[in-house]
Amino acid sequence: MLDVLTADDPLYEELYDVRREAESVGNWVDVAAIMPAVHALRARGPVLAGRLRELLGLPPHERHARAAGRPHWTVLSYEACEAALRDTATFSNSVQGHDNPAGEKSMGILEMDPPVHRAYRRTIQPRFNMPEAMGWWREHTIDTIIERLIARMATGTRADLNLDYCARIPVYTITTAIGLDGDEALRFRHAYLNSTSASRTVTMEQRIANARIVESTVLGLVERRRAEPRDDLVSFLLGMTLQIPGDAPRPLTDREILAHVKLVMVAGGGTSWRQMGIALFALLTHPEQLAAVRADRALVDDAIEESLRWNPTAPYFYRMVTKDVELFGQHIPAGAVLELGLGPANRDPARWERPDEYDLFRPRKSNMAFGLGTHRCLGMNVARVEINRGINALLDHFPHLRLDPDAPAPFMTGGLEQQGVSGLPVLLR
Ligand code: HEM
Repeated sequence: MLDVLTADDPLYEELYDVRREAESVGNWVDVAAIMPAVHALRARGPVLAGRLRELLGLPPHERHARAAGRPHWTVLSYEACEAALRDTATFSNSVQGHDNPAGEKSMGILEMDPPVHRAYRRTIQPRFNMPEAMGWWREHTIDTIIERLIARMATGTRADLNLDYCARIPVYTITTAIGLDGDEALRFRHAYLNSTSASRTVTMEQRIANARIVESTVLGLVERRRAEPRDDLVSFLLGMTLQIPGDAPRPLTDREILAHVKLVMVAGGGTSWRQMGIALFALLTHPEQLAAVRADRALVDDAIEESLRWNPTAPYFYRMVTKDVELFGQHIPAGAVLELGLGPANRDPARWERPDEYDLFRPRKSNMAFGLGTHRCLGMNVARVEINRGINALLDHFPHLRLDPDAPAPFMTGGLEQQGVSGLPVLLR
């Protein structure tokens, strides 16, 4: 069952190339050029009228169909992002989400607002707490795939950690946690990514066909688990009770379970892959910090948190303004869209000294990589455990791990809304 996850499959190169991913979404930018320009913009004010793309002089790209044609404001400081994220009555998540050609409109909790959001989130949250991430997730999925991938790499002298390691851990973790077989992981993700309006490189017919594959795969699983529950996320969701204020408590419907599963697949499959690559990129390009982590494994968590601050893989999120509001000197009308710069907030010089430097020894302060408040990332504990176990296992087995000096040097790449590393060619011994 695990062999497909550890075998060479051309789909890995297709699905796990950060630049290619951005090109297929249509939002590729020169990532390295963005931050200096963002610093200059933030110096003009924490909240600015206009889309970030316009302010930066980048080609247009519509991230969310529901934002089209609306006036935009851009938020670039930590304080202003925090204020917006905490005021869910004024700044609604309803703008986020992709409509799906097969008729499925909901991406689940990411686009809901309180109190409905809270009711739905409670039906899935218990599986994502830290004790579960350290216990259930490690035992069921994370440790198994890491062990297999390390064994596979141990026979060679070189590897591309992006493709051979980082790409394979989250897709297996999420798919098997849901209850699907590990060998379905890659093709299920391929179908999912090619089923939404975010995929620009497939025809409408292909999108509809892929959306049907995703739906029938998940709904078939729900039916099997209803008849015979197992120890997986779908069986767990079948046992949960939804309590929307004012309504009678009831179990989740099959389509509500489908919405949870699809969101977890999309939110957890790409992010941890890219962030694990960014954390390894940070350490491999800062050998003195890598040596310190190698000598004191208690620093692995600091290395991960600093990678999240330095280069969060998902640096921009969007909100719909529900009523006229003043935000840090800007009057913003109801119906406008706010672009929240979580990445820029993480580099705000008012909060961090030398914000552009990767320094795992800096005093730890909370950062915005996982968002804040009501919608704070559901999967952050799972992501942290995946990356922590992934880095520790590499350090355990490859004491001389370093970048391959004969291969192209890695760099940050991707789109405005999702970024990662170009590759991670390493020498293993
Ligand atoms: C390092 C990896 C990750 C990063 C940087 C990240 C980032 C984020 C951010 C910034 C949000 C908030 C979005 C908003 O406020 O609109 C979010 C939400 C979410 N994330 Fe993650 N994520 C990561 C990994 C994961 C994983 C592994 C999963 C699932 C296994 C996951 C599932 C979710 C879900 C379901 C939400 C929506 C929560 C809600 O709306 O209440 N994420 N994530």
